[in-house]
Amino acid sequence: MEKNLYSMKGKVCLITGGSTGLGSYIAHGFLAAGASRVYITARSKDNLVKKKNELEKISDGECIAIKSDLSSLDGVHKLVSEIRAREQHIDVLVNNAGIGLGTPIKTMKVEDWDRTMELNTKSPIFLTQALLDMLSKNATLENPSRVIFISSVAASIVVPSVLAYSASKKMLEHLTTQLALAVSDDFIRVNAIAPGRFYSEMTRRAWQDPNAESFKAELKKIPAHRYGDENDMAGVAVMLCSRAGAYFHGETLNLDGGYRLTF
Ligand SMILES: NC(=O)c1ccc[n+]([C@@H]2O[C@H](COP(=O)([O-])OP(=O)(O)OC[C@H]3O[C@@H](n4cnc5c(N)ncnc54)[C@H](OP(=O)(O)O)[C@@H]3O)[C@@H](O)[C@H]2O)c1
Repeated sequence: MEKNLYSMKGKVCLITGGSTGLGSYIAHGFLAAGASRVYITARSKDNLVKKKNELEKISDGECIAIKSDLSSLDGVHKLVSEIRAREQHIDVLVNNAGIGLGTPIKTMKVEDWDRTMELNTKSPIFLTQALLDMLSKNATLENPSRVIFISSVAASIVVPSVLAYSASKKMLEHLTTQLALAVSDDFIRVNAIAPGRFYSEMTRRAWQDPNAESFKAELKKIPAHRYGDENDMAGVAVMLCSRAGAYFHGETLNLDGGYRLTF
């Protein structure tokens, strides 16, 4: 058996939206598990530099920050050019950047639907398409490269107030299975993680006052009785991207403390 099933030693990884929240937890986990280079991308240069400096202190690996806006295909192509200029191959792509706008059907604007779909579905699929050759370059039967999509519990429950978000995440889960089969022979394994409630900028309003009645009610409702944290997210991402998770393919892992069961 492998000595360290959860090692990321030597891997080159790209995480979109790695400056804050879930993406930054995954970047931390990859570097702590021995990844050589972890690229993080986002729009805010300040947040990227802050996170890069923080993460490089905890490991021997390199954290490289690339400013990019993935709300359009132009931004996707620019990011791909930046990666190609620096690397011959990549081992891991985590499609994590996303937005969650309130979109109830009676007031939803076309622009809100489009913004959601552009960032949450169109960019991840075309970023993945553009990087397929780099993902397959060093991939083997025993050591396949990995693509992860970050879905949401919103894909499995009915939340009409975030109609577009919920539909975009369901689409990602469907894409996960379609893409998995399509790239099997290139030794690329494709999976999704569907988080429940996690501490991040996206959910800050809900948790920033730990004494708020609404927050206490949420914790009561979640079967695990807490929000997910960086260990929960990093643990599953490292598992999926190391030897430990190499046999997962076309799977969505619900990482929600049982939250989806309560709807
Ligand atoms: N937190 C939760 O409870 C939860 C639950 C289920 C699913 N998720 C999913 O987890 C993923 C990460 O969200 P999060 O909760 O960690 O939120 P977050 O802390 O707001 O992180 C979002 C990340 O994406 C980047 N980003 C946003 N818009 C972007 C754009 N147009 N181009 C490039 N990067 C962009 C952000 O940086 P900039 O703003 O600087 O660009 C940031 O790095 C999302 O896909 C979200 O749907 C979160």
